[in-house]
Amino acid sequence: MDPVQEGRVVIVGSGLIGCSWAMLFASGGFQVKLYDIVQEQVTKALEKIGKELKELGKTGMLKGTLTADKQLSLISGCTDLKAAVEGAIYLQECTPENLELKKKIFGQLDLIVSNDVILGSSTSCLMPTKLFTGLKHVKQCIVAHPVNPPYYVPLVELVPHPETEPSTVEKTYALMKKIGQSPVRLTKEIDGFALNRLQYAIISEAWRLVGDGVISSDDLDLVMSDGLGMRYAFIGPLETMHLNAEGMLNYCDRYREGMIRVLKTFGPIPDFAGKTEQKINQAMCEKTPADPEHLNARRHWRDECLARLAKLKKEIKSD
Ligand code: NAI
Repeated sequence: MDPVQEGRVVIVGSGLIGCSWAMLFASGGFQVKLYDIVQEQVTKALEKIGKELKELGKTGMLKGTLTADKQLSLISGCTDLKAAVEGAIYLQECTPENLELKKKIFGQLDLIVSNDVILGSSTSCLMPTKLFTGLKHVKQCIVAHPVNPPYYVPLVELVPHPETEPSTVEKTYALMKKIGQSPVRLTKEIDGFALNRLQYAIISEAWRLVGDGVISSDDLDLVMSDGLGMRYAFIGPLETMHLNAEGMLNYCDRYREGMIRVLKTFGPIPDFAGKTEQKINQAMCEKTPADPEHLNARRHWRDECLARLAKLKKEIKSD
């Protein structure tokens, strides 16, 4: 059985992503303090986590080797930030995606944290220089961007500020590995980090193909889910190139010209509005009406699929 770890982790913000991080750190045996500004929110979050852990235990999808009850006992709520950070080794900020709010929170943390704790931010698209510049503890700050839902999609993008110490990156990397996540290191910040840059490139071309009437919305999504996505769950685009010919050099030899020719036909950035927006929205709403009930049911289905895929990937890795 995993031993309970020495260090304590603090989660700031107990919403969707904060709860997932709390569960992940507990699965790795860490004590977790879940902080939020309102007690009611913390209580709700702990109840939700308790239910989810029990359910995961029943379905055999629980991460780590500690029981659901043990994992739950490692997580406690808190509304006193100073008490929460006392003696912590790592802090993961998960407050709403609002630069001013996050800057205020990191400013507060800067006044009360020790020189050892690492301050990670879950931000999806705020640059480290915007978040951390000027902080006394900037060396200890890093963006650790998860993918929703983090419990089943293990990738975490680690993005340093120019003044982040290499040891902060290395320690965060090791910690993420320890809790079963799959960290990747960016050497410098760039808008959209890596994941959203790739995602937006795909969305942009998908939008254009549907907008130009080349393919329907449903079929476009199938190109990913039954085509490229099948491979990408196991190997990335670069390894795909390597395997789809006699190695990378041979792939470039064979397909360089074709790739450049096709890429030259990509048009300007779509405006993601107007007729194409209406057309795609209609197709999406036919499949899943955009009300909370239908959206939540479909999200639940998606998460179940991802949970099973995560299990399959784990089995394949340990073969
Ligand atoms: P959320 O809205 O579900 O949760 C935010 C939580 O922060 C709430 O519980 C709120 O009470 C709390 N909060 C507000 N002000 C606070 C303060 N001053 N101190 C402490 N807590 C405070 O948001 P969600 O979706 O969990 O997102 C959190 C972060 O994670 C954002 O930066 C978001 O961009 C990022 N993220 C979100 C993903 C998603 O798909 N939802 C995926 C990857 C990253």
